[in-house]
Amino acid sequence: MAFLDRHKILETNATYLLIGSLLVVSIGGIVEIAPLFYLQNTIETVDGMRPYTPLELAGREIYIREGCYLCHSQMIRPMRDEVERYGHYSLAAESMYDHPFQWGSKRTGPDLARVGGRYSDSWHVDHLSNPQVVVPESVMPKYAFLLDRPLDGKYIGDLMATHRMVGVPYSDDMIANAKADFALQANPDNDYSGLQERYPKSSVRSFDGVPGVSEMDALIAYLQMLGTLVDFSTFTPDASR
Ligand code: HEC
Repeated sequence: MAFLDRHKILETNATYLLIGSLLVVSIGGIVEIAPLFYLQNTIETVDGMRPYTPLELAGREIYIREGCYLCHSQMIRPMRDEVERYGHYSLAAESMYDHPFQWGSKRTGPDLARVGGRYSDSWHVDHLSNPQVVVPESVMPKYAFLLDRPLDGKYIGDLMATHRMVGVPYSDDMIANAKADFALQANPDNDYSGLQERYPKSSVRSFDGVPGVSEMDALIAYLQMLGTLVDFSTFTPDASR
């Protein structure tokens, strides 16, 4: 009873309640957040991760603009049902160049963290244009207009420079070649060896099957890259450092 009486002081005095709440929330916060700075699996660097190519980055902007994250997560949790359905659980390092990250909080549709390479480009064109043609019961909206919207990559170098300010290691060389690399990735007829040197494991092809760069090209280039950068046949979590 005496304890409850003392608790009454907190309940009837707004200032004490505020101070008490701040104290409790701070302790809880420190317990949750502090370990993230030294637990190895949240800070390890992983082979294969590289900054996104200009075209992938543009696709990511479209993904954000269209609110794909409202129905799709990009975060495979380390639980058996998820790993069996989507593949290896997501590593912290796999979102290290995402500003903002696209983990999402709702799955109306499936997780997309490893959708890269799962379907062909033309499947994506058909599906994005009219999802119900491919999956009749789908509630996903149609994005056919992306095919009709050309992109010229005018501001892609500026966007990369902005990402560099928040820590993405875009080199001067990458930024200087941004606009050229942007156009090159959707046009396999030109020499793209420089692009693939700057961005290992980047695929070069016409993603929407139509000459020129459209928003559809950019979005599919982004989707086809998701989850393909880290090679999980050789990856072992590093607990030694
Ligand atoms: C209203 C919710 C909703 C929105 C918004 C949405 N989707 Fe979907 N998406 C779904 C549903 C439901 C499915 C599963 C049925 C299907 O394949 O259409 C799906 C499936 C997918 C798939 C196939 C995944 C797989 O593993 O089979 C891809 C890829 C995809 N969506 C991409 C996108 C992209 C890119 C955007 C934004 C341009 C987007 N979605 C926006 C609901 C949504």
